[in-house]
Amino acid sequence: MTSSRPLRAPLRVLRLVASPNANHSESLKLSQQILFGLATEAGRRGIQLTDLDLNALAPVDASYAQALANQRIVTVSGRDSTLSRSNELIDQLQACDVLLIATPMHNYSVPAPLKMWIDQVVRVGKTFVGTAKGKVGKLTDRPVYVAIASGGHISGPQARQPDFLRPYLSAVLATIGLTQVHYFSVEGTAKGGESLSTGRATGYGDVQAFFGRQSCRVGQV
Ligand SMILES: Cc1cc2nc3c(=O)[nH]c(=O)nc-3n(C[C@H](O)[C@H](O)[C@H](O)COP(=O)(O)O)c2cc1C
Repeated sequence: MTSSRPLRAPLRVLRLVASPNANHSESLKLSQQILFGLATEAGRRGIQLTDLDLNALAPVDASYAQALANQRIVTVSGRDSTLSRSNELIDQLQACDVLLIATPMHNYSVPAPLKMWIDQVVRVGKTFVGTAKGKVGKLTDRPVYVAIASGGHISGPQARQPDFLRPYLSAVLATIGLTQVHYFSVEGTAKGGESLSTGRATGYGDVQAFFGRQSCRVGQV
């Protein structure tokens, strides 16, 4: 479903911003580190970044919900309808080479704005089909990078809470055909101070190790 493009065309990165914290967002800052890594990887191609603030999305409307529930072929019923918005979001997703998701953990899982995006791009007949063996994704696979910020810990021996965010996101992205999902996290932000510094150092270090670089511009957004 991706179009053929010149080899030197910029790497098209679609970044989803799920935090309400604007430029103070830790997940956004972490995603910036991933962008530096992608820019290094892209080299002279460069990257073309499209930012989508998910906080501006509206919940799905009744006709969309009913159409999906009944698995009817749905038609656009108005420019402001969920269906029309869903078509735009799916086109935007199909047009990117790399999906980058900047998200906080909210109550052990994805925050509501990210869930609203998911509800509008995971669409029967459009981005996946139901078969006798289960749901099969229709999108061309491409890398997905997820930058998570969490107030507490979700990894290692300090984790004292369930993590539904990563398993859920992996499952729902696989439903539409996106299986190359890489997670990075800044954990322990709630305590601030040393805990936040350690969380950033660990998360940014993991990004640097992944992209094989020695120096990311820490803290720059
Ligand atoms: C509604 C809400 C729910 C939260 N739930 C959790 C949670 O379940 N686990 C956790 O570790 N932190 C939780 N937090 C804390 C955020 O994950 C943390 O502040 C994070 O750094 C926010 O990232 P951001 O700056 O990118 O928005 C929650 C915060 C809010 C506002």
